[in-house]
Amino acid sequence: MATQQQLPRVESAPQTDRKLRVLSGIQPSGNFHLGNYLGAIRNWVNQQEMYDNSFCIVDLHALSLATTRDSLRANIRNLANTIVAAGVDPDACTLFVQSDVAEHSELCWVLQSVTQFGELRRMTQFKDKSGGQDESVSAALFTYPVLQAADILLYDADLVPVGEDQKQHIELTRDVAYRFNQRYGETFVLPRPDIKPDGARIMSLDDPAKKMSKSSPNPNSYIALGDKPDEIRRKIKRAVTDSGTEIVVDPGKPALTNLISIYSILNEMTPEAVQEQFAGRGYGAFKSELGESIVTAIEPIQQRLLELDASPEIIDGVLRSGAGKARAYASGTMTRVRERAGLGGY
Ligand code: AMP
Ligand code: TRP
Repeated sequence: MATQQQLPRVESAPQTDRKLRVLSGIQPSGNFHLGNYLGAIRNWVNQQEMYDNSFCIVDLHALSLATTRDSLRANIRNLANTIVAAGVDPDACTLFVQSDVAEHSELCWVLQSVTQFGELRRMTQFKDKSGGQDESVSAALFTYPVLQAADILLYDADLVPVGEDQKQHIELTRDVAYRFNQRYGETFVLPRPDIKPDGARIMSLDDPAKKMSKSSPNPNSYIALGDKPDEIRRKIKRAVTDSGTEIVVDPGKPALTNLISIYSILNEMTPEAVQEQFAGRGYGAFKSELGESIVTAIEPIQQRLLELDASPEIIDGVLRSGAGKARAYASGTMTRVRERAGLGGY
């Protein structure tokens, strides 16, 4: 940890004459859930006018856990449809599939040379996903954060909008970029994580100590984007709550605090205002309105998903044009990297 923390954190020079560049990524691993929407994609959508945005469906990352050809292909398409259905405007942003831009893999290899083994071993996502089985998990799961650094650094991203769980990976990206710049001269922009105070960590509905996750074996622990309205209402009714009857945000009431936070984001209210609105009304009334708020947010997305599913050529075109734009940018960065590092060029 020491070496990582001692590195000076040099910011990219403030640029006032251009929009800040944003890159974010999401894995096509199925079961997109409410946490992904509130922690990530909703912010991508809200900020798309403000920034110069690229969003990447990271299929190479998905290979780090066992998958099959058919499920990967289905998940990529589903995720692309979901991102657009959730409001990302493909005319205003670059939406593309990672493996369509070969430079991601190439830069990943180069960056591995300035990444320390010990740094990767300390990544909490690796510890979680390997579940202590580090003899048998793939080497790709171990080097996963380096590929993520390549995703970000290829596009000179200033900001990376993600949920709280990705903070450590963005810090590693900064350290790796800094080290490359030290060794070979200024090459990469040092990116900053963009983590919102609200929604960055939506917790599981059956255990407020765990984050909502698509890998949970219990489908009642998350709201999936594909859940039918009645299923959503039922899951919220069943969600664990803390003892008592009052609707209050309180560190001693983590389950309720999580539900209030979901309600407050969806209704654009402060948690205090939610508390006031439900004063004296009890859990039943609160949960029923929370269920309705989630249904109201999700139903239009499901409707657009149906339309996109029926016309696959729309998303084909979006991803093809996104890959073209991304490739053009990434090849410029890679030429610079090869030249700085003294690679090839014959
Ligand atoms: P993943 O599903 O792990 O590919 O994550 C995609 C994006 O969703 C990342 O920006 C994550 O930080 C974010 N995310 C995942 N789970 C949650 C959660 N429970 N709460 C908030 N954000 C989340
Ligand atoms: N590791 C991220 C996650 O699990 C996904 C990701 C891959 C990503 N490359 C990225 C996020 C680049 C932001 C930027 O959610």
